[in-house]
Amino acid sequence: MAETNSVSDEVFNPPVSLQAQAHIKTMQEYEELYRESIDDPESFWKRIYETFYWKSPPTGPFLDYNFDIRKGPISIKWLAGAQTNICYNILDRNVENGLGDKVAFYWEGNNPGDDGKITYSELLVQVCKFANVLKDLGVGVGDRIAIYMPMIPELTVAMLACARIGAIHSIVFAGYSSESLADRILDAECCAIVTADGVWRGNKLLNLKNIVDRAMSLCEKRNHLVNKCVVVRHLGPKCENLVDGMISNNLCEESQLGKRPVHGFKISWQDGRDIWWHDLMGTVDSVCEPVWMDAEDPLFMLYTSGSTGIPKGVLHTTGGYMMYATATFKYTFDFHPDDIYWCTADIGWITGHTYVTYGPLANGATSVMFEGTPFYPDAGRFWAIVDKYKVNTFYTAPTAIRSLMKFGDEFVTKYSRSSLRILGTVGEPINPEAWLWYHRVVGNSTCAIVDTFWQTETGGHVITPLPGATPTKPGSATFPFFGILPTILSEEGHEIKGTGEGYLVFKQPWPGIMRTVHGDHERFETTYFKKFPGYYCTGDGAHRDKDGYLWITGRIDDLVNVSGHLLSTAEVESALIEHHSVAEAASVSHPHPIKGECIYCFVTLKEGHNLTDELVMELKNKVRHKIGPFAQPDFIQNAPALPKTRSGKIMRRILRKIARGDRDLGDTSTLADESVIDVLFKYRAQDA
Ligand code: WT7
Repeated sequence: MAETNSVSDEVFNPPVSLQAQAHIKTMQEYEELYRESIDDPESFWKRIYETFYWKSPPTGPFLDYNFDIRKGPISIKWLAGAQTNICYNILDRNVENGLGDKVAFYWEGNNPGDDGKITYSELLVQVCKFANVLKDLGVGVGDRIAIYMPMIPELTVAMLACARIGAIHSIVFAGYSSESLADRILDAECCAIVTADGVWRGNKLLNLKNIVDRAMSLCEKRNHLVNKCVVVRHLGPKCENLVDGMISNNLCEESQLGKRPVHGFKISWQDGRDIWWHDLMGTVDSVCEPVWMDAEDPLFMLYTSGSTGIPKGVLHTTGGYMMYATATFKYTFDFHPDDIYWCTADIGWITGHTYVTYGPLANGATSVMFEGTPFYPDAGRFWAIVDKYKVNTFYTAPTAIRSLMKFGDEFVTKYSRSSLRILGTVGEPINPEAWLWYHRVVGNSTCAIVDTFWQTETGGHVITPLPGATPTKPGSATFPFFGILPTILSEEGHEIKGTGEGYLVFKQPWPGIMRTVHGDHERFETTYFKKFPGYYCTGDGAHRDKDGYLWITGRIDDLVNVSGHLLSTAEVESALIEHHSVAEAASVSHPHPIKGECIYCFVTLKEGHNLTDELVMELKNKVRHKIGPFAQPDFIQNAPALPKTRSGKIMRRILRKIARGDRDLGDTSTLADESVIDVLFKYRAQDA
């Protein structure tokens, strides 16, 4: 959304007090280190490498890669042959170094007052126990484990337990539908899944176990058996009265926990396959030797939307990801041991992987983990939590900032927020207005703002200010992180030096870059390395201003960024087409004041159907159920015909303009039938 990125000339210098104690205090210091990281990556990353425990050193070069598809297959290897274990590095070593009693997570539940905490040594014990549980269930090195959980410490325990024994976690955000979950379980061929009975989000109760059950039966229909389903009892009391039979309704009358009252909450249950977490954890040994993994062994996969509509299993490996998560957390958030850090992202997204679990724990940080939403019980919740735990570094998404802005400043200003020093954002371009509100109102004009640009694929921040060094401009992600060499390319693939706009690409690998798409290396090469040989292509546009600042302008492919969540238009279309009344559908991204972008759909109905309000609701629900609530389109309009080229390709560029009511369509000469345009304008959604 280029228009939200209107250039602001105002420059904000790093807060003086923050700068004084920062790891990187000046742009000159940044530039020197940056130069080294580009010219001699080994010398730069070696220092990070040396902060970890390695069972054995690399057997080959520190970095070995081919970024140019013309020269052969794309391959990226950092530290190949070196043996380590990330779980050992972020837990055992911190405990050995005296952080055992330090709080790893303050857990804040959906309801204020429902809270808890877990220290590093407690976390280590839980992780070892669950690693033993997994082993007892037959899970071994390289097995894929699906995780579909709310934001509770058991989620981190489950992921680190996988890492400890070399199993690969594949976390699916617990807001995806059964079908989306099933697609991901099938693609990764997961042998087991970890979930919870349910969770409250605001005043909505989600029955996670039933969603997982439906997903498992969808998998079974497609000949894949999920052998074990481990269930954390998060809501209900212990239910002993399981009824015999294949599926018994396990009726949990009323919670004993008091804080999470649930009346008549039922989950389905299949004996033999489904097992309570606490039953397994009750008897298991609390010591578990880590399995030593190669630096290039897979650590996890995480699905992200692809333009074709089929999600891609982005694969990250052990050693490089560990270095990159650790270094970006330390420098972008200028981490110091006494900090209290809070990232509001769900662990189900990459932000939660890198900046709730791996990055903070690797640095021995104390974090807040939050289960709820920014609006419950009211729009002051974030700032109540900031005051409760004296949070210094706070990291959230522009969509959350924009939606809180509209509730007014009082929800913010009635809290002190005096502990805050650094405010981060991620997920989509932040418009200067939201940036300035974040800075002035939330941050009292005394905090550094870090607008961090990155992707599931990049593993960690790639373009970001450093809070003690970088003068910031509202709406600009500023400059590259260490090891990142960005370039802006024209459509023809020419490098644009100086000011200009084009495709944002990176010229050399950094340790945290994804290594492949699970099960489809060719798709990895085609998606990221084919259009511009020799470069990693982000799929985003960017422009560089006269001072060298980078401004991300948004996706330039068929992906839509709804509230920081990427969705493919093809994915939405295939959901719509499943409805019996729809003959054809096209969806495009459309500006939205809170979500940043939303989905606008054009549907051609079959003979005898009319687009009534009821049908619009049905179609919206169709997408919601097929993908997940966050994917629900905002607008659906009637399209007796779609604008197509003579070869039958839908011209989305024109549909985007029609959705916006913009009659300046540019060149329409390639259209097979220009008369469809007027008809489409006539049916335009009223409130769009
Ligand atoms: C896409 C990646 C990385 C964590 C969350 C999203 C957009 C992300 C920014 C930012 C402008 C941003 C890009 C990117 N994006 N951060 N600071 N400024 N755009 O991960 O789902 O992989 O999405 O989010 O379009 O390509 P993701």
